[in-house]
Parts: sequence; C-alpha cells; structure tokens
Amino acid sequence: MLGGKIQYDYAFMSADKVGRFGFKKQELEKLAKNLKSFNKKIKQTKNESELSFLKSPYDNQTLRQVLRITRKLPAKFDNLVVVGIGGSNLGAKAIYQALAGQDANQLPKKWRKLKIYFSGNTTDPQPLADLIKVLNLKKTVFYIVSKSGNTIETLSNFLFLRKKMIWQMGYKKHKEHFIITTNTETGSLGEIAQKEDYLVLPHYPGGGRYSVLSVNGLLPAAAAGFDIERLLAGAKTMVRQSKNNRVAKNSPFLFAALQYLAYTKRQQNISVLMPYANALAEFSQWFRQLWGESLANKVNFKNKKVNLGITPVAALGPTDQHSQIQLYIEGPYDKIITFIKVAKIKNNLKVPKYKNTDLEYLGGHKFADILNIEHQATAVSLMKNKRPNGTIILPELNEYCLGQLFYFFEIAALYLGELMQVNVFNQPGVEQSKNYTQALLGKPDYEKYKKELGY
Ligand code: PA5
Repeated sequence: MLGGKIQYDYAFMSADKVGRFGFKKQELEKLAKNLKSFNKKIKQTKNESELSFLKSPYDNQTLRQVLRITRKLPAKFDNLVVVGIGGSNLGAKAIYQALAGQDANQLPKKWRKLKIYFSGNTTDPQPLADLIKVLNLKKTVFYIVSKSGNTIETLSNFLFLRKKMIWQMGYKKHKEHFIITTNTETGSLGEIAQKEDYLVLPHYPGGGRYSVLSVNGLLPAAAAGFDIERLLAGAKTMVRQSKNNRVAKNSPFLFAALQYLAYTKRQQNISVLMPYANALAEFSQWFRQLWGESLANKVNFKNKKVNLGITPVAALGPTDQHSQIQLYIEGPYDKIITFIKVAKIKNNLKVPKYKNTDLEYLGGHKFADILNIEHQATAVSLMKNKRPNGTIILPELNEYCLGQLFYFFEIAALYLGELMQVNVFNQPGVEQSKNYTQALLGKPDYEKYKKELGY
C-alpha cells in the first residue's frame, strides 16, 4: 500500500457556489476540448531538454546513482548542506520540510540519516557565518547546485566554503566534502569542478524550477533517509493521471483550467496557495517560484506583446487566518485560493479538558482535527462571501503523496502555459539584474551593462 491518491476538490470554485466570481460548467467544457491536443503536443515534443522533467520520474540511472552515493554518506558525515538558489534549492527544501517537519534539525529522529541544511540562497553574510558556527565541518558534506554554474549567490558561498574547508582539512581531504551538480559544458562551477576533480553529478537537462524530482531534490532527500523511490512512484501516478484525456480524471488540467478561467474571465490575477500544514510552508515557496517565473511573460507564442502573469502568494493556515483572511474575504475580488489539506495526520496530541469555563468545548479535541475543522470553516466562509477556493487533499503527508503533489503542479504549469499561450520555461526578466550585478562587481566584458547603469 503506497498511501493513496491526492484529490482536487473544486466545488467552491464554481458559479453554483460563488456566483459570477466562479467558473461556469460550459466554460470548462469548452477548455476541455484542448486537453487531447495538449497531451499530444507534450508527447510529440518530449525530447526537448526543457521538457525533460516529464522523464525524471523514470530516470532509473539517476536514481541508482543517488542511492549509491547517499548510502555511503552516513559513515562519514552527519550533515549535508545544499548550496543553491531558486530552482536549485527550493525543491530540496520543500521535500525536507514536508517529510522531516518544520524543526527537523532540532528534533532527533525526524531526519533519519543526515541532517540537511540550506545555504547559498543569499549574499547576506550572516546566515553563512551562523551556519559555520553551528556545524561540525569535519562531519559536513556540501552539495553545490547550479545549472548555469555562474550564479553569484551560489558561487560566492561555494568559494567561501571551499576555502574554509581547505583551511580546516587541508587541500586533499577537503574534496571529499563537496558534491557538485551543474551542467558539464559551460559555466565556472563546472570548470572548477573539473579542474579540482570534485565529485560531479550532472544537472538534468531542464531548468531549475522543474528540477525537484531530478538529482537536485533526490540527493538531499535520500541523504536525509527518505524513500526517493516512493517519491518517484507518486510522481508516476500523477504522470498516468495527466495522460488521461478526460478532464474529470485529469486533476492537474482541471486545476490549470480553473486558474486560467479565473485569470482571463474574472480578473482574478492572484493565486494563493495556503496549506493547512506547517510542514508544507516551504512547498508554497516552491510553488511561488513555479507560478511566478513560469507564467509571467512579455510575449506569447506568436511573439505578440501580452505582459501576462499570475501573482502567486504563499500563505499558511491557520496562521494566516489571523493575518490575511480579512483581505481574502472582504478585499478586492482579485484572488483565488487553493488550500492543501492533509486528511490523515499522524499525531494524537489533544487539548486537555478544562471544566466549568467557556473553553470546556475545546477540551478533548485532537489538534489535528481542529486544524482540519479550521480549514473547513475558512473554505466555507470564503465561499459564502463569493470567494472562489479549492482544496487539494493529501491522504497523508508521505513520500508517495508528495511526489504526486510536485508533479501535479509542474504539469499544471505546463497546461496553464498552453492555455495562456506563453513559454513556461524561460525567464528573460531575471537576467537584467543578474547582468547589472555582475557588471558592478567587475566581470570582464560587461562594460556595456556598466554604461547602461551610467558608469
Ligand atoms: O528556475 C530557474 O531557472 C531559476 O530560479 C534558477 O534555478 C536560479 O536562478 C538558479 O540558477 P542556477 O541553477 O543556474 O544557479
């Protein structure tokens, strides 16, 4: 028994429930006609490197390589630090938090093998300074991830850590403390890795924000002791679902279609993801990048200027009931909300009884039940105020369900891009500030950017 399939409940997205702010059945039926041709297009173009995330769940070679390497780590190390930014760290972080819990590194038994830390996602020096104080560096392996091999945040942190480790262990020994994932053809990281003979696991051919089920996410998850085969089995279940050309059976397409209708027909250009599980807070950060970077585009497939984009918001239930819900219920009608609910929470903590007060009703309830009741109450309140909202239901928070969840959003992003007619794999808008930063830091041949900046 792998642990059940995730469901998407979209009843409160419909016009029947939220009036003119919800989708109409005939609108969905019209969009549904595209599904078959989208799936055909995806099948035909599967060999493009950008679409290689579709193959990640079936990449047995990477799976075996990751298992072989990570099996040996606990004999030498207690900690693994992922050094990367954006697509090169958000997926790994989301997996670790989801499976190990929010405060995993403080709690023995939460992680099963190595503790996983995350660094390199900033040039703020303080987190780096704090991290090296906390870690026993002799028992630490650094996993450096950068597809381009040129990202300033990742590379500056890597160079610092490399030097630190050479001081601590000597040049020869320090190499055992680094594993590198990058493209093997261009970029400084690949060049250094080759020159210095670090262990390299090549970056999969696609981009960062679709990389969670590639070596990028799998290596830290396996190092922590989680079952990456079940994670991939979950993804495969969602692959099968997404191949179904009947909309009612294809929940990622349904999700994409409802996001599309909200955005194009009702000016609901904000998409909130609000899990009712602290362990999924980082998952929302991963989603935020996937939606933000993939769907925002100046031009469409026909190169026509469109400036499209859906603004993703990461919220957390019930915490944000006391921060954001007022806005979602009484503010502008510009949002749709997606909750994530975990049906079976393996935690039996209960609120103790306190008799003869108004609080007596609360006593005896499990926290897990209160959490899911709070989700229900919020979803209904939103619906009653004509605010469309849907819920993704995870039977349990385990590897199998998580694998489904990641693939659900990845393939939904692809469908949504097809509906919006935009390329979900590029991010030209990210490049300008990267170029200006490199120019200001003195990168050779970047004079033209310096001139643009007025130097
Ligand atoms: O999704 C993306 O492509 C980006 O977020 C990148 O992952 C991010 O900029 C880091 O790039 P790199 O992996 O090249 O260091």
